[in-house]
Amino acid sequence: MRIEAPFQVTTSQTMTQDVVLSEGTDHELKLHKNQPFTYGIFVLHNDPTQYTDPQSFLPERWESSNPLYKTPSGCPRHAKSYIPLSGGKRACLGKAWMEINHRVMLAVLLHQVKFEYVDQERLTVKQPFNFFVWDTPA
Ligand code: HEM
Repeated sequence: MRIEAPFQVTTSQTMTQDVVLSEGTDHELKLHKNQPFTYGIFVLHNDPTQYTDPQSFLPERWESSNPLYKTPSGCPRHAKSYIPLSGGKRACLGKAWMEINHRVMLAVLLHQVKFEYVDQERLTVKQPFNFFVWDTPA
């Protein structure tokens, strides 16, 4: 859900009024009323200021006692650095249900099914297609 987030960008959204984000900082961003914008869930999930070695699958980074739980500079991660179901007022309507559903389904599947890769290449080669963003296959 982090590395291969099903929604890699949001759909187009607009503000009902002018908004300035991070005003007065190097990251200041002005969003104008009715100006369409989208934001990259993929980008947030792979932000190297938030995740050490972001492209690596390291489940221990979610364990609070592990040093990888923090940002590379040792701070707590930003609350919106992991948002596969989006966040705020326009978060996924199924968010709470999907979070419970994923935990239960994963536990059941791992208990009942023995998984193995049919194609070992899938372990190392990133798949070219996903829901919104795709690379041209070589
Ligand atoms: C793994 C499963 C799911 C993922 C990854 C997912 C992800 C998302 C994301 C990222 C958004 C925000 C889209 C945007 O801002 O453009 C969204 C919106 C939404 N999702 Fe999901 N979703 C999932 C399952 C579901 C389910 C099961 C339901 C219904 C029961 C649902 C209903 C909705 C609705 C109605 C919205 C629009 C909310 C709004 O715009 O106010 N989603 N979802």
